[in-house]
Amino acid sequence: MTASSPIRTERHGDVLVIVSDNPPVNALGAAVRIGLEAAIKEGAADQSIAAMVIRCDGRTFFAGADITEFGKPPVEPLLPVLVDMIEACGKPVVAAIHGTALGGGCEVALGCHYRVAVPSAKIGTPEVKLGLLPGAGGTQRLPRLAGVRLALEMTAKGEPISARRAQEAGLIDRIVGEDSLVADALAFADEVKAKRPIPRAAEKTVAADPEAVAAFTKENARRFRGFDAPAANIDCVVKATELPFAEGLAYERQAFMRLMTGTQSAAQRHIFFAERQAARIDDVPTDTALRPIARVGVIGAGTMGGGIAMNFLSAGIPVTIVEMAQEALDRGIGVIRRNYEATAAKGRMKPEQVEAAMAALTPTLDFDSLADCDLVIEAVYENMEVKQEIFARLDGIAKPGAILASNTSYLDIDAIAACTKRPQDVLGMHFFSPANVMKLLEVVRGAETASDVLATVMALAKRIRKVAVVAGVTYGFIGNRMLMPRQVEANKLLLEGATPEQIDRVHTAFGMPMGPFQMADLAGVDIGWHRDPSRIENVRDALAAEGRWGQKKQAGFYDYDEKRNPSPSPRVAEIIQEWREKTGTPQHEVTDEEIVERTLYPMVNEGALILEEGKAQRASDVDVVWIYGYGWPVYRGGPMFWAKTEGYDKVVAGLEKHGFTVAKSLRAGTIK
Ligand code: 3HC
Repeated sequence: MTASSPIRTERHGDVLVIVSDNPPVNALGAAVRIGLEAAIKEGAADQSIAAMVIRCDGRTFFAGADITEFGKPPVEPLLPVLVDMIEACGKPVVAAIHGTALGGGCEVALGCHYRVAVPSAKIGTPEVKLGLLPGAGGTQRLPRLAGVRLALEMTAKGEPISARRAQEAGLIDRIVGEDSLVADALAFADEVKAKRPIPRAAEKTVAADPEAVAAFTKENARRFRGFDAPAANIDCVVKATELPFAEGLAYERQAFMRLMTGTQSAAQRHIFFAERQAARIDDVPTDTALRPIARVGVIGAGTMGGGIAMNFLSAGIPVTIVEMAQEALDRGIGVIRRNYEATAAKGRMKPEQVEAAMAALTPTLDFDSLADCDLVIEAVYENMEVKQEIFARLDGIAKPGAILASNTSYLDIDAIAACTKRPQDVLGMHFFSPANVMKLLEVVRGAETASDVLATVMALAKRIRKVAVVAGVTYGFIGNRMLMPRQVEANKLLLEGATPEQIDRVHTAFGMPMGPFQMADLAGVDIGWHRDPSRIENVRDALAAEGRWGQKKQAGFYDYDEKRNPSPSPRVAEIIQEWREKTGTPQHEVTDEEIVERTLYPMVNEGALILEEGKAQRASDVDVVWIYGYGWPVYRGGPMFWAKTEGYDKVVAGLEKHGFTVAKSLRAGTIK
């Protein structure tokens, strides 16, 4: 090993400890693999060594293959070869695991003959989330060690399991002290160094379990819809029950390479890095000193305010929530409690955690109690005057340095900030509904928002487990601004001959969780309606005027039964027909292709305009907004990535065919 190698060896009597030091997550890049190969060879050749321990410095055991190497020319030793070599070693090798042994890291551990782990360690094969499968023997060794059912769970779903669960399943041989991993691993190595035969996963067999496979596939059909990788993982695990080990490995390798060179994995890897990149603000240094946030205030205990409050309570940050009337306050608090209790009923929260969260909530009618909050988020209804009045009042009572945020989904943050004497402390925090569930947070940067305010909110977003994206001030910010052209075109298509069902089907077949009309029914057809039945200007107004407000009224663009199952509505078809005649719109047969070109391509075009105007920092941020805020299928990588895979020329031609003005950067293919 060279002096610069991330791998070093330490001798402890007759045990050779092989240590990786490759921050931040000990990814198994070429230098690590080369170092590991040399260290194993050193241990195998040295007569005075009886056993080896592989462990990592820093915050975690190997967190996987180095994803940044994917798509580049391979450097030997390849990971599958290295894992085989560890397993073939004639001396016992023990993996000593802390942090997260993920992907290739888990596979290195499975190639070792024994595994010990600290109680807080997690083991998993999350490759499926990158559109892949474990490609270093994981699909063959996991079922051999832990059985088909758990191997399916781990590979096809990609969720890591706890050290305890791994021990019960036979993946971990011993749980060791949280703070004594090295000493305990050495003691373990001492115990097993003379034991023969050396246990090797490759030498085991595992019985087929077709029922488990069928049940698992059925249970998860919805979750896997549209994705290529889950089925490939399942297939490889099944092969472990049918093929000799070496053939299974070869099969796995082929399947891995097929996925790796496909568009879905490229899209999913793009989103992995895009999500992390989104946290960076180009002109704000990463070491910017943050403002302390010990208490958060929320104005408004409605659906949005309540959901926002839950994010902070769940992260252990106390919240003061203010309402104007006792009844509204009580209702809001009741909803928060019921949401937490529902989570507890599903086993995802302990009853004492529910009580702790509720105890950290201070409901009040007294606006002045916001005076000790470090961050106040306004979540009242969308009305500029109301918001400006609230901010002026807040300016009078908030402590110096407090961050003042609006949850507006469209309105001008600068106009709101202008009502205060501290516009540098004001910004937008646009949560998506339901705010306690949706991962996206659009952080809206006003003209005068201070750098440390932005940096503090971005860091806070991470604390409450949101994915934050910085947006500039523009009507609807990134997400809703892109939604508008989609909606306009969807409405036009109805008049030209399409049905709500057809348009929605094209969107769900594309992979969206719902189409524009299903979304309208869920959100409420009455949203944005002027509530004047004498002023009916379009199909949507006509529906609203008839009380067809969507799911909540069991009637909207669809009819709903009591279980909220939708069916096409003859009444809606009549209304659409009336409007076709009234507006004299010429009819034509609308194809699915036209729906894509007229509802999805304009979103890409709008995204390009947003980027040209500097309202988003980078194309990958736009993708993150659509993945985490609107359920754009991750295997298509977000609208901007998708446009690239479609081909910019094709998108431009489609837009031109329908008379759209094409954004310059889209036409030139210079979107960044
Ligand atoms: N390769 C390259 N870089 C990686 C990486 C990997 N496998 N995993 C994480 N990183 C980078 C991140 O991009 C980030 O870089 P940045 O600071 O420049 O943005 C840095 O490491 C820290 O990562 P996080 O911000 O995600 O740190 P967290 O502490 O929040 O999470 C983690 C740590 C749980 C390990 C998380 O990073 C993670 O889930 N990583 C991916 C794990 C994974 O998917 N492994 C499988 C890889 S594919 C594989 O192994 C194929 C094999 O089967 C052949």
